[in-house]
Amino acid sequence: MDKETVAVYDKQIDDYVDLTATEKPDESLTRFIGRLPAKAHVLDLGCGPGASAAAMKNAGLTIDATDASGEMVRVANEKFALEARVATFQSIDQVDHYDGIWANFSLLHATESEFIEILPTLHRALKQNGVLFLGMKTGSGIKRDRLGRRYTYYPEETLIALLANASFKVIATERGEAIGLAGDMEPFVLLTFQASSS
Ligand SMILES: C[S@@+](CC[C@H](N)C(=O)[O-])C[C@H]1O[C@@H](n2cnc3c(N)ncnc32)[C@H](O)[C@@H]1O
Repeated sequence: MDKETVAVYDKQIDDYVDLTATEKPDESLTRFIGRLPAKAHVLDLGCGPGASAAAMKNAGLTIDATDASGEMVRVANEKFALEARVATFQSIDQVDHYDGIWANFSLLHATESEFIEILPTLHRALKQNGVLFLGMKTGSGIKRDRLGRRYTYYPEETLIALLANASFKVIATERGEAIGLAGDMEPFVLLTFQASSS
């Protein structure tokens, strides 16, 4: 875990909540929910202030919401009563447990070697044919933004290849660009994978 990145989220939680507050339903989240069985069990990895986890809970899913930032977890629980918990990506140790994992712009804070190590952990945590949603910024290299958050950028093809090495088959791709908390417009990709047998 990068302490500096998590400290930024702890400190700028109000700005992050304002930035991500929207009345509009998140269409990629709606599609993700549509790929899961009724009452699916979902891990929200890096849940932030909990809006996606709350939408999934409202859709009847059982949500395990986790984040490394104590402030994010506090707000998620205060706003949405999620029973979210403080946990790092590296601490996920469930086996054959989840129908889906929602990792929306969280794993971009891992280094490439951490990311490669985490992928088999996520595959193990999913049931067979479980669904992984991955939102990532695209580009290349590793750098801190002007707030101090550390990011690793990948070309889309590299992400798909890394995930294929960990037995994840891509089933949907969306692309876009958006202005983040640091104020810069950056391209992103939303990838949906199915966990195949390894
Ligand atoms: C850009 S925010 C995304 C939050 C949420 N998924 C959303 O869509 O709004 C990234 C989140 O990843 C969390 N995070 C960063 N490093 C982490 C780590 N090593 N383990 C768990 N969570 C981490 C941050 O605290 C932050 O809440």
